[in-house]
Amino acid sequence: MLKSVQTTLAEGVIELGVGHPTLDMLPLEFMQQAAAHRFAQGDPSFLQYGAEWGDGVLRTELAAFLAGQYAFPVDPEELFISGGVSQALDLVCAMFTQPGDTIIVEDPTYFLALDIFRNHRLKIVSVPVDEHGLDVDALSTLVAAHRPRLVYTIPTHQNPTGATLSAERREQLVRLAQEHDFLIVADEVYHLLSYGDPPPPSLTAHVATGQVLSLGSFSKILAPGTRLGWISARADRLETLARNGMVASGGGFSPLGSAVIRSMIELGLLPRYIQGLRDTFRARASALTDALRALPVTFLPPQGGYFVWLTLPDGLDSATLLERAVAQGVRFQPGNRFSPDQTQGHRARLCFAYYAETDLREGVRRLGQAIHATL
Ligand SMILES: Cc1ncc(COP(=O)(O)O)c(C=O)c1O
Repeated sequence: MLKSVQTTLAEGVIELGVGHPTLDMLPLEFMQQAAAHRFAQGDPSFLQYGAEWGDGVLRTELAAFLAGQYAFPVDPEELFISGGVSQALDLVCAMFTQPGDTIIVEDPTYFLALDIFRNHRLKIVSVPVDEHGLDVDALSTLVAAHRPRLVYTIPTHQNPTGATLSAERREQLVRLAQEHDFLIVADEVYHLLSYGDPPPPSLTAHVATGQVLSLGSFSKILAPGTRLGWISARADRLETLARNGMVASGGGFSPLGSAVIRSMIELGLLPRYIQGLRDTFRARASALTDALRALPVTFLPPQGGYFVWLTLPDGLDSATLLERAVAQGVRFQPGNRFSPDQTQGHRARLCFAYYAETDLREGVRRLGQAIHATL
């Protein structure tokens, strides 16, 4: 049979490597309600080619929603509806870089973004991440040496480490971008998924400088199948994006999906759904970390997002451990998957978003067996 979903999981294996929401948590009923609301309005304009920047009403509703979540004003004129973060990264590279330009990325980082940067023939240089996020002092040395066009960061609940960039480092990063005139591409896909104290303000707070493009997505706060998100940036930056050939030819991204999301916000369903996600993921994160405390691993307890990043016992390589783990019926993502310079061989990423608590505990038990067998 031809497939319909990107990833199908193997029977009997607990796949702690996936970075997806659980199928049965996806908001089928809320979406049905929102679609019925929108379709009943008798206005077919969302079936027409859409405005390049995205539906103006959605941009206005989204700005008000984000302002409520971020606790600072968000201007709808500084929002562009994208096809999600991945598409936004592609668009940003297309409009703001030339082949051979340098992009600085975190090590470790979201590995699939690297392929997008390679597609645009960018030179990838990496900067370390610690428990307070991207190391901005190290970045400052690299910027002087490499004169990057872009710096790609996942500032909040980073994939894979879970680290959040501190408020001081955010300020320092923006100052550095102003001094050296590079663009900060802030992938803020997990910013609204916090389970503990709120993170420092989104980098959207700095768009007026013109140095920041903050990328958001409905993938993790609603459903990956919407394939929609947004870019917050100063209006002149967004004008540049709107001149992209594909946007000019086809219009804004998915007016149909945008129309339904617009009703999700108008009906108050989106914040309700996100609150439910936070409650579920908080409980899952603590089930996973409680179970992990019995294992000879160290990790930063996650404050949000989807992931826990493990440091394995000395001398244990995660690729080797993975082979043993598969035999025990559990999988994870080996650390070097996330590392442009292959520096993360002793690390492993586990996801707590996909499985309920019982499966997470069983997955950790199997992982423990694999670690002991390998040691
Ligand atoms: C850091 C990060 N960025 C982007 C994405 C993908 O975003 P989208 O579905 O909006 O393309 C993911 C999904 O795992 C992610 O973890």
